[in-house]
Amino acid sequence: MRNNQKYNFFGFAILLGLIAGSGSSVCLAAQTETEDLTNIDNWPQIESPFPHDSQTEDYITKIINTMSLKEKVGQMIIVELPFINAEDLAKFPIGAVLNGGDSSPGGYKNTPLAEWVSLADKFHDIVKTRDGAYIPLLWGTDAVHGQNKIIGATIFPHNIGLGATHNPPLIRKIGVATAQEVIVSGQNWVFAPTLAVAQNYSWGRTYESYSSDPAIVEKIAPEIVKGLQGEIGVDFLSDRHVIATAKHFVGDGGTTDGRDQGNTSINEETLVKTHAAGYEPAIQAGVQTIMASYSSWNGVKMHENHYLIADVLKGRMGFDGFVVGDWNGHAQVPGCSKSSCPQAINAGVDMLMVTEPWKELYFNTIKQVENGEIHLERVDDAVRRILRVKYRAGLFNQPHPSLRPGGGDPSILGNMANRSLARQAVRQSLVLLKNQDDVLPIPANSRVLVVGKGANDIGMQSGGWTLTWQGGIDRNESFPKGESILQGLQRAIEASGGKVSFSENGDFTERPDYVVMVFGETPYAEMKGDINTLSFSQLNGQPLELLKKLKSASLPIISVFLSGRPLWVTPEMIHSDAFVAAWLPGTEGAGVADVLVRKPNGEINFDFEGRLSFPWPDSPEASELSKPLFPLDYGLRYQHEPTADKRLPKEN
Ligand code: GLC
Repeated sequence: MRNNQKYNFFGFAILLGLIAGSGSSVCLAAQTETEDLTNIDNWPQIESPFPHDSQTEDYITKIINTMSLKEKVGQMIIVELPFINAEDLAKFPIGAVLNGGDSSPGGYKNTPLAEWVSLADKFHDIVKTRDGAYIPLLWGTDAVHGQNKIIGATIFPHNIGLGATHNPPLIRKIGVATAQEVIVSGQNWVFAPTLAVAQNYSWGRTYESYSSDPAIVEKIAPEIVKGLQGEIGVDFLSDRHVIATAKHFVGDGGTTDGRDQGNTSINEETLVKTHAAGYEPAIQAGVQTIMASYSSWNGVKMHENHYLIADVLKGRMGFDGFVVGDWNGHAQVPGCSKSSCPQAINAGVDMLMVTEPWKELYFNTIKQVENGEIHLERVDDAVRRILRVKYRAGLFNQPHPSLRPGGGDPSILGNMANRSLARQAVRQSLVLLKNQDDVLPIPANSRVLVVGKGANDIGMQSGGWTLTWQGGIDRNESFPKGESILQGLQRAIEASGGKVSFSENGDFTERPDYVVMVFGETPYAEMKGDINTLSFSQLNGQPLELLKKLKSASLPIISVFLSGRPLWVTPEMIHSDAFVAAWLPGTEGAGVADVLVRKPNGEINFDFEGRLSFPWPDSPEASELSKPLFPLDYGLRYQHEPTADKRLPKEN
């Protein structure tokens, strides 16, 4: 029996008991049972930051009153690009489209900017001229670390690195920059921020989480929302901002064994205190959309959880934007399919995200309203919410996407201001975990051998959700405005008369003063990144072999570790003199050299500022995180008494 059904069942039993008067045993049992299950008082009670605005609501009412059922259902469906063309959009009153991680105009990778913008303009015209009331189109995209689908855009560090900066104002600026570059390519809605509070690093989406500490996510959430959307009463949803999405509601980062889209089996208190921590501040900051999670809570799929979506999120927490389903997420609800899911709509999901069977979904949903499976009031509520967001975003009066500020302007993509912001974020995200005998920072005029697969690969240093869903298939040529970690080191060292040589597999002829080894995880996204061990050398043993080989030559080795999560790398650390957690820094790899290399005059250029926002494992077992090697907040500094590796076991 599903959670919300139990809730309703026992609620009914209580009612019966009360009516019967003598049903004390039933009532008592039911009462206890219900208390075990859910209690809405566990959730924060929020006044919406938007007082009722009769002008907005009247405007929407007027439109709704002219809409046919078909037009209403069309607003409740978002279709992925490859499955809908111009003719479809002219014929069917679909209200939103998205490009998923692997889709883009023309359907091929690395679609040029001009094609993105011209399609957005074309869709704008079609929607403007098709039958029925004009309701502007939403185009959503996963700009989760910059406008990461477009060549030349600034790719910021992924959230796990931003969490390590402990700098919410910086993250807000990144939101502003991201919105600016998303508008260039013609979109008006981003499926970000992820507010997951990842608890198990086996999860392939750990890097999309800012922290395992809800207090950190709570501080960052409002800032990234204000960066993307603007600030209520100041520049909220101006023509330089985009609609944001808090995702994935709720408990996505708490599934058993970190299985992506799995079951989060915890009590309600933990769900609220840990996994929902970012939603209250995000709602108070005015986030306009929230995406339902694929995951389940105690066996009930979030996409069908009426209690959490309708009663808690929209009722108790006062969320008055709209809830969008995840990509075919409704199809995972028992009894549903991609083309039919009244359960999700009845639970409070306002817009279903769907791929190829969108026409079936459209016609099935219309039928389900006509036959009473879905009440018209629910449809009108969903449509009102969707139109409210479109109205607040000013879309009804917006010109063609190419005429928005910066629309179609390639000079804005990867502009110097945004790249230097990204480079600052890289610097502040780096966490120094080991610095034996203060081997770092490196004198600028040194002879440095740079080795490892991650040294000269902007695709690898950017991670998943970069140009493609899984990332990593693009090398440097797809990032014309980026710099690899190697290129950053070359620039810093050779400008001061030093010498940098590069050998992916560590070969050298002339003995260097230092070795910088850049290695780590090859990019992944979502379930493709789920693992069963945190032992990096078990996942990829090569770097450890290379470290051992270089160590045998008694060379001072600085390891720079690229990863979407903390992993058990004690063996690799033991064979390194210094060890830096670099996370997934994005296009501005030069930020690494900024910190690793001294100024030409020998002074420290930039000190480390990063501090762990996830405890670092001392075991290959994800379940052993209670005794971390390095705790939350750990991070060494140059300005620091000489560091002894108190925490690392000595080389065996
Ligand atoms: C994906 C992800 C979600 C993303 C959506 C659209 O499956 O779960 O985070 O926004 O689909 O790409």
